[in-house]
Amino acid sequence: MSNATDFADTRINMDCPKKSFLLMISCMALLLNNNNNEGFVDAATNLGLNYGLLGDNLPPPNEVINLYKSIGITNIRIFDTNTDVLNALRGNRDIGVIVGVQNQDLEALAVSEEAVNTWFVTNIEPYLADVNITFISVGNEVIPWEIGSHVLSVMQSLTDLVKTRSLPILISTTVAMYNLGASYPPSAGEFTTQAREQLVPVLKYLSQTSTPILVTIYPYFAYASDPANILLDYAIFNTDAVVVQDGPLGYSNMFDVMFDAFLWAMEREGVKDLPMVVAETGWPSAGKGNGTTPEIAAMHNGNFVKHVVSGKGTPKRPNSSITGFLFATFNENLKSAGTEQNYGLYDPTNMKPIYKLF
Ligand SMILES: *[C@@H]1O[C@H](CO)[C@@H](O)[C@H](O)[C@H]1NC(C)=O
Ligand SMILES: *[C@@H]1O[C@H](CO)[C@@H](O)[C@H](O)[C@H]1NC(C)=O
Ligand SMILES: *[C@@H]1O[C@H](CO)[C@@H](O)[C@H](O)[C@H]1NC(C)=O
Repeated sequence: MSNATDFADTRINMDCPKKSFLLMISCMALLLNNNNNEGFVDAATNLGLNYGLLGDNLPPPNEVINLYKSIGITNIRIFDTNTDVLNALRGNRDIGVIVGVQNQDLEALAVSEEAVNTWFVTNIEPYLADVNITFISVGNEVIPWEIGSHVLSVMQSLTDLVKTRSLPILISTTVAMYNLGASYPPSAGEFTTQAREQLVPVLKYLSQTSTPILVTIYPYFAYASDPANILLDYAIFNTDAVVVQDGPLGYSNMFDVMFDAFLWAMEREGVKDLPMVVAETGWPSAGKGNGTTPEIAAMHNGNFVKHVVSGKGTPKRPNSSITGFLFATFNENLKSAGTEQNYGLYDPTNMKPIYKLF
């Protein structure tokens, strides 16, 4: 596909194949890692893209899925159970899909297991035969708000349901970093009092089965809130220097700090080894002045991909590779004006990359 090569940077093409985005970056990771090719396949399967649908100029889902195939993306996330997307995914079992229970449905679903069963039969069951649904996220960034109080019971009903049917679908929820009251240094990571009430029981429930919690991690928000005092290079993985020393652990990027602060906050609540999947990270390429340019977005997102593909973890979990999903596939023109509309890697009107990732 034509778009695949647009990601390539001529400087690194001497040795790396241009055909596939993942082949190319995996090859780069190989070069960077002294030809230790362990993790090549693992790393590729650790990267995903969010597929947001809040645009009135988006390409049809089958074209989008062809785009994913052309760039070697095998994990995507949608925010609901969109029938057009799920129908287009039929037969593409090599693409793992995170789907979502929408926040506005949680209250009604929490009423009974029967309500959850009906939701499942309507929204999931029709696709089980030929769509690879990997996760159901029960709500998106809804903890610690009022509706978040329904997350646990819906998760429990869905978990029981998939267990009864022996389905390999993981049931989790997606939570944002604002649940952290303290996050600096990472070892001081602690949840807010408000978050603790809803989040800790959810984390304890997930840890019974080692089901990952899905988190959204945006160094951009921290940077945008205080650009004068936050080093841009630290926010976009553009330095190897240790910027934050936390006991024996040295950090050169804000993403790792945020990730590990969440790990420490979980530990503080007695939740020790729960895996974390990064459901979203990203950087807008426009919308708020000189911190939101295609070049900066490319740097953040490209470096995030390298981080994931390297197979390296964070300082606190150095031996666990990161699984992460970039936000998002397309710029979405029905979101709020400004940065919110400009997180896409691709222009929806022509499916061309908005910037080269490397
Ligand atoms: C479903 O997706 C997951 C995650 O990408 C992958 O590990 C698994 O192999 C896929 N299943 C099939 C049948 O391809
Ligand atoms: C944006 O402009 C301000 C004011 O000129 C400058 O201080 C800052 O370094 C610039 N930031 C970036 C990311 O270029
Ligand atoms: C990571 O793996 C290395 C090499 O096997 C080991 O020495 C180290 O203790 C591990 N670190 C952690 C935090 O598990």
